[in-house]
Amino acid sequence: MKGFPEGFLWGGATAANQYEGAWNEGGKGISTADVITSGSHTVPRRLTYKNVKTGETGSISAFGPNTKIPEDCIPAVIEGEYYPSHVATDFYHRYKEDIGYMAEMGFKTFRLSINWARIFPNGDDVEPNEEGLKFYDAVFDECLKYGIEPLVTLSHYETPLNLTIKYGGWSNRKCIDFFERYAKTVFKRYSGKVKYWLTFNEINIMEFAPFIAGGLADPSPQNRAQAAHNQFVASAKAVKAAHEINPEMKVGQMLAYQPSYAYTCDPDDQLLVMELSKNTLFYADVQTGGKYPAYRLKKYEREGIVLDTEPEDFELLEKYPADFLSFSCYGSSTFTTHKDVDQGNGNFVFGVKNPYLETNEWGWATDKNCLRIALNTLYERYHKPLWIVENGIGWDDKKEEDGSIHDSYRIDYLRKNISSMRDAVNLDGVELMGYTMWGCIDLVSAGTGEMKKRYGFVYVDRDDKGNGTLERTKKDSFYWYKKVIATNGADLE
Ligand code: BG6
Repeated sequence: MKGFPEGFLWGGATAANQYEGAWNEGGKGISTADVITSGSHTVPRRLTYKNVKTGETGSISAFGPNTKIPEDCIPAVIEGEYYPSHVATDFYHRYKEDIGYMAEMGFKTFRLSINWARIFPNGDDVEPNEEGLKFYDAVFDECLKYGIEPLVTLSHYETPLNLTIKYGGWSNRKCIDFFERYAKTVFKRYSGKVKYWLTFNEINIMEFAPFIAGGLADPSPQNRAQAAHNQFVASAKAVKAAHEINPEMKVGQMLAYQPSYAYTCDPDDQLLVMELSKNTLFYADVQTGGKYPAYRLKKYEREGIVLDTEPEDFELLEKYPADFLSFSCYGSSTFTTHKDVDQGNGNFVFGVKNPYLETNEWGWATDKNCLRIALNTLYERYHKPLWIVENGIGWDDKKEEDGSIHDSYRIDYLRKNISSMRDAVNLDGVELMGYTMWGCIDLVSAGTGEMKKRYGFVYVDRDDKGNGTLERTKKDSFYWYKKVIATNGADLE
């Protein structure tokens, strides 16, 4: 079987708040992720806060479009609560060991995020934190030692908490300037070490989880639209700055994407899928396509949303779109207008259950065609290089008595997905830069805060309550992925 083109970037992906830990070390400030508790498949993660007048504490669901911080309250770390980001799986202290595993698998690239609050602890500081900068210098040097190209996300579901408290988060235009300063700082510092950058992880999640995606204190539709606009402008400014600082640098968009299927051939179901798909594609139409699409402007008009814009915003968007489009894709979603179908039982986070797909414990499905469909859809629409920067399956892996971990279900999922992406490249001619499997070393789940929803090729001894030695163990999938990389995707058996 034909593999992937020469130079294809195989690797794995992580995010600082789910992996790094050391939440209050090295001069790091508190980020929005640090005030979110753990949860489970059935119990939502909570955002904790305290009332600045009475000192009383409380919490609300951290995910969802309605996470609004009550009046007189600020998000805060509360004693007695458990916050998984605080230690996570300790990459901060174990990066050499972990990058060693990546090198052993033959990684060509490693996607990680810089924790913004490690560089600018309050977000609005004038000077960066040198200790934070030094940490990432060491991490990038370690990657380069093995010929691993870093792929760096600037903001992965974390905003310095002070920006939420003082400015209300990304709905405030001031965040554009703070982000620009941060982006320029790291572009200059790591020029020559980091070539590939991503601005905002899953920017379209602003629609569904505005506290997570934009640190929004008030998630009104107006604020969400404004926050997305501000991130678009910030992204364009980052592209401009990167190209000026080092023309070799490429800055990509990062979109949460999943093919959407209609449950029936009822035209109403088709229309629903079209409408829902636009809610996702809008974000790429602007950030990668360079223009606000008419359908979104019409929607804003209908809903009475008026964006606060500067005259140069639209010129910036058009002149500095993303260089490439990266996306996460774990499976597909199925939707229907038919009320007799159980609406809350989707194969993924959204939609209804697709009877043709098998699922894991969390309801996430293996769809053997989803990457090919996703890649074709996005390539036909944007004609820009693509990069799959997240794909994988969470599983409650069990360690055998002899220490081995037989994750055949993960190998099965990855085999189907990589085969689907190989078809998109070899049969359809899609331009694909690389593939980074999500959570290559076990880390905290973003959606549930659990450790037991594991994705990695390497197991980390830590449980949902924070117990465990943090010791690393290779799973069966480790050796399988090593072979996949060695054969450049030709051998998936
Ligand atoms: C993506 C996020 O949505 O999905 C990651 O970018 C996240 O941060 C991943 O971890 C998997 O989701 P979960 O909820 O299983 O961790």
